[in-house]
Order: sequence, then structure tokens, then C-alpha cells
Amino acid sequence: MPAVSVFGAQWGDEGKGKIIDRMAGEADVVVRYQGGANAGHTVVVAGQKYVLHLIPSGILHPGKLNVIGNGVAVDPLKFLEEVDGLRQRGVRVDGTNLRLSAGAHVIFEHHKRIDQAAERWRGDGRIGTTGRGIGPCYADKAARIGLRVSDLLEREHARSRLRAALAEKNALLRQVHGEPELDLEQQLECYTTLAHKLEPFVGDTGAQVREAYQAGRRVLFEGAQGAMLDIDHGTYPFVTSSNTGVDGIPAGAGFPARWIERAIGIAKAYCTRVGEGPFPSEQHGELGARIRTAGNEFGATTGRPRRCGWLDALQMRYTLGWNGADSWIMTNLDVLTGFESIPVGIGYRAGAQSYAGYPGARVGIEDLEVVYEEFPGWSEDISAVRSYEELPRRCREYVESVERLVGVPIEMLSVGPERDQVIPRRPSPARARAGAR
Ligand code: GDP
Ligand code: IMO
Ligand code: MG
Repeated sequence: MPAVSVFGAQWGDEGKGKIIDRMAGEADVVVRYQGGANAGHTVVVAGQKYVLHLIPSGILHPGKLNVIGNGVAVDPLKFLEEVDGLRQRGVRVDGTNLRLSAGAHVIFEHHKRIDQAAERWRGDGRIGTTGRGIGPCYADKAARIGLRVSDLLEREHARSRLRAALAEKNALLRQVHGEPELDLEQQLECYTTLAHKLEPFVGDTGAQVREAYQAGRRVLFEGAQGAMLDIDHGTYPFVTSSNTGVDGIPAGAGFPARWIERAIGIAKAYCTRVGEGPFPSEQHGELGARIRTAGNEFGATTGRPRRCGWLDALQMRYTLGWNGADSWIMTNLDVLTGFESIPVGIGYRAGAQSYAGYPGARVGIEDLEVVYEEFPGWSEDISAVRSYEELPRRCREYVESVERLVGVPIEMLSVGPERDQVIPRRPSPARARAGAR
């Protein structure tokens, strides 16, 4: 796997952290290229649970290089908190195994305050953001008034950039949101002190990753959020503010698009979403609650209960399609044990109109009614199964039916949160053909 993209194929929380940690064993470099501490990637190793927000999920493997690329929105407080937390648990983290791009944009206190105030301002139209300052930071990047990590390392330069930013942000905080202003000197002191602590990690990460790749190292790109939260192709405006799929890599890591050899989507055997916005196959009421309990579906970053529903083959075809996925990994298959019948979305209807594919360009998908096909469930515990043939027949039938409906080969199944709880699948000629389409 010379350069592989691993991305969330639903609305986030698909189990990317677990899969990246697993795959990192055979990689040399793991790169985050977008998002920020809105992500919560859970890795469980020998019963120990780690939730990573900014640091790539390869950090638990000694000897791997972990990179936070220029496209990540970095909250220095969260970064240092995470480094400290890992060190306290005996994980080695220093400037040799963790690198931070000098070009990454910095999340300041004003970004977090504006994120939260804007959500209150939106009222019923709120997005349900994580409140981590992601949207306002990327907005400033695009408006060219943001500060990058490198801007903070030179005090006078930082003062002048921050003065310009705060002049505008303080007016917004006070006049629109009725909040107190932030003091320039206090903020400057706070953030330049933090930046000083970041310095041992900072460098030109794009050059480092490209050099590693050209020297034959295997590079894994760890997507955060999910493709349905992508700012361009997701359920806009109920999305995050970055390109979450393969599309984010070239810009966010300084890595040429044409060097990316493989793309692997990650998706649950069902589907979840946190925050507001359309989710056609969502199950309200008892069924949704049953999935939530079975999967322990509560956010790794905010603790919010996740909205739960069934796997939607149209949505999967859409995200795997625009990312050009060669294959995908189905996680949380064990969670479906005990469901008598498992529906999968196979079409949409809105009034007299039916859709056989995800209507990406349609305004809103709130009114779509999902057409389901139901598959019989299984009752056996599958969390200790390690080979495909040992899975209950109905479970295999479910996997193969979903694979057929989605049209992209499933290369691995995950049956529990631990690193070794996976079932690889042997490529069959038919699946290999589908992958090469
Ligand atoms: P990420 O954001 O994509 O990394 O996913 P999260 O960590 O936010 O959420 C996934 C949750 O599912 C975490 O609690 C994982 O420990 C857990 N998990 C991952 N894979 C599996 C699996 O195959 N089975 C079960 N039961 N849990 C899993
Ligand atoms: P991982 O990487 C699930 C959602 C928020 C909200 C929307 C915008 O763990 O899969 P933001 O704070 O980014 O401006 O919020 O995106 N969201 C996520 N949902 N998993 C995530 O990350 C998410 N990161 C953001 O709930 O709906
Ligand atoms: Mg998560």
C-alpha cells in the first residue's frame, strides 16, 4: 500500500480510528489532512481505549511517523492536551514521531466563541456543530485573515495579524452576538506561549511526506468526518467545513493526487449521524433506540447520542463513487446480532417521483422516503469470529447482499472495537472485477 486514502463513507464515526490503527501496523506514515478536533477517533488496544482528536491514529504504533498536514485546523490547546494525555499513558510522542505543518491554520478562542454563538443565532436552523471552532477557522482561511502555525512563531508578525483579525471578530462578537470582546495582548500572550510549545513538532510536512513516499515508504491518509459531511458533496449546509474524502488530500497534505493509488471507504453495517441535517434511512423511536443501545452510539467528541438508522445503498454508492473507492470496510457488523430482520435502503421516493441513485444535486433530501429490502438477521455472537467462512450463513448473506447492492467490494469486516477484531475477505473474481470497474 504505497499511498492509500482511508475515508469515512457515511456521516462520520464509521470506525476510521480503529481501521487506521489496524492498518498502521503495515504503514510507515499516517497523515491527517483536514478537519480538526471535531473528530473523535477511537482506538482500543488490549482493552485500553484511546480517543484521538487531532493526532493521527497511527500514534499507538512505535516507529511510525504521524503527520498533521496543512489542511487541518489546529487548536493548539487541544493538540498539547492530547500530547500530554498520551504521554501520561506511556505513549511516546515527540517531534520525531509527530509532525505538525507550519502551514496549518490555528483555531483561536474567538473561533470557538463564534462557532457556539452562531449556532445559538441560527436557532432552529442550527447545524449542530461540535463547537470546536472549525467553521469559523476555515472561513477565515478562505477570507485570508487566518493565522497559520508559522505566523504565531514570530511575535511581532503574530501581533499584527491577530490585531487585524480581532478588530473584525470583536465587532462580530459584540455587535451581533452581544458577547464580550477579547483582549489582543492577552490572546497574543496565550497563543504565542502555546506556539512555543508546538515548535518542536513544526515543519514542512508536505515535503516530508513526499520524500518519505519517494523513498518507498507506505503512506496512509486518515480522513476525518465522513463523505456525506464533505463541504462540496455532502448534505450542504449540514456539513463540516472541509473536503473529507480523497478530494481533501492533495490540498490538505501537499501530496499529488496522482500518487494516491488506492481509496478505501469505511462504513458501518448500519448508519449513524450526529448533529442536524437530512438522514433518509434514520429510524426514529424504538428501532433507532435499539440500534443506539446495541452499538453504544454516543459521540466520541461531544458525547451526544447519535441518530441511528439502516445502511443506505444509494448513499453508499454515491460516496464510494465520487471518491473512486476500490473497496470498502464494513464495521460494527457484530452490533446487528439479534436483529430479526435488517432493512437496507435500495431506492428513494418523493411523491410520484422515484430515484434509483442518490440525488446529489437536488435541493434538500429531507422529503425522500426510503424504499427498503429486508434481510433475515442472525442471533449468534460473531465478535470472536476471525474467518469469513465461520460467520453464520445469514450474516454472510447480509454482507454479500449489501456488497451487491452497493457495487463495490468489501475487503474487510470489523466485528468489535479491538485491533484484532477483523475478518479479512478473500478477493473473488467477481469482486475483483467490480473493484477494477
Ligand atoms: P471514527 O470517528 O470513524 O474513528 O469512529 P468513532 O471512534 O467516533 O466511533 C466508532 C465507535 O465504534 C467507537 O466506539 C469504536 O470503538 C467502535 N467500533 C469500531 N469498530 C467496531 C466494531 O466493529 N464493532 C463494535 N461493536 N464497535 C466498533
Ligand atoms: P469523526 O472524524 C461525526 C458533524 C457535527 C455537525 C457537522 C458540523 O469522528 O468521524 P463541525 O464542528 O465540523 O463544524 O460540525 O459535522 N461532525 C461529525 N460527525 N463524526 C465526526 O468526526 C464529526 N465532525 C463533525 O456533528 O453535524
Ligand atoms: Mg468519531
